[in-house]
Amino acid sequence: MNNPLSKFRTICEVLREINDICQGTENKDRDIRIKLAECEGMAKKMSRQLLEYNKDFIEEHFEGNEDLYKDWKRRKKKGYKMIVESKLETIANKIPSMGGREIGKYLREYASQVKSNFSIVEVGAWLGAGTAQICLGILEGKNNVPLFVYDRFFASKSEIEKAGKQGVKLKPKQNTLKVVSKFISNFNCRVKFNRCNITAIKKYKGSKIGMYVDDASKSSDKFKHVMKIFKKHFVPGETILVFMDYFYFEWSGHGEKHKYQFNYMQGNKEFEFIKRLLPDKSAAVFLYRGKK
Ligand SMILES: C[S@@+](CC[C@H](N)C(=O)[O-])C[C@H]1O[C@@H](n2cnc3c(N)ncnc32)[C@H](O)[C@@H]1O
Repeated sequence: MNNPLSKFRTICEVLREINDICQGTENKDRDIRIKLAECEGMAKKMSRQLLEYNKDFIEEHFEGNEDLYKDWKRRKKKGYKMIVESKLETIANKIPSMGGREIGKYLREYASQVKSNFSIVEVGAWLGAGTAQICLGILEGKNNVPLFVYDRFFASKSEIEKAGKQGVKLKPKQNTLKVVSKFISNFNCRVKFNRCNITAIKKYKGSKIGMYVDDASKSSDKFKHVMKIFKKHFVPGETILVFMDYFYFEWSGHGEKHKYQFNYMQGNKEFEFIKRLLPDKSAAVFLYRGKK
């Protein structure tokens, strides 16, 4: 590693390096094992002072339980932090993810702020990790907005592998919509799934779009198509767009193939760049400004 700042990397950046190695180098296994050991060490350091409690458990048992409370006070003095999850957060965090969980806090924040007469559109949901985070945001914001989800919901070979590593077994060519809708039914939100090829979406029939999340239309044909279908439903000064793989071209090694969204946005005054999202900074957020 030549980068002099490399010793300051985060665990997510090391994981990204593993991902890069997986894309193809010699000595893959050995290189990956070294990086995984590095990640494990970093995770141990991070988690040494982290306690994870379930919110329902806390509500039921913590308040009245002297021993637990004393234990927490003792640890707190030593700098421990506590993660408190609700049951729904636990469900959301268990859904296999290709990014939605990792940027969940942003998806939740934006979704919670969508006005109740608007809708949210998600293109490219895979197994619903981002969908679940959006639902959490809708519940937090109590805006009850409908969520329109588009995906082919079809398990490809690489997706079966990725899901398997995260604890969900899929079969070749499986229709994944059943799996996804089962996960998402827990949230009791107004989610409308559309199982289709992106380029075959004919019409969007929802209300104005307050938030648009896209993790699928990276090539020019798909992106042109979704813009044709959805852009007319964006609201100037209101619609937040999250492109989950916007900066992927920086490390994908495929250059222009993954750069269409970036090229489209450059110098495009209709969209204002807001920020890159952590943890791996692939995602970008824009605000639709509309035609001047
Ligand atoms: C990177 S994954 C999405 C990951 C998801 N956002 C998450 O957070 O886990 C991309 C998804 O886009 C879908 N997709 C890609 N091209 C598509 C197309 N032409 N039509 C429909 N879905 C497509 C894939 O089926 C896959 O589920």
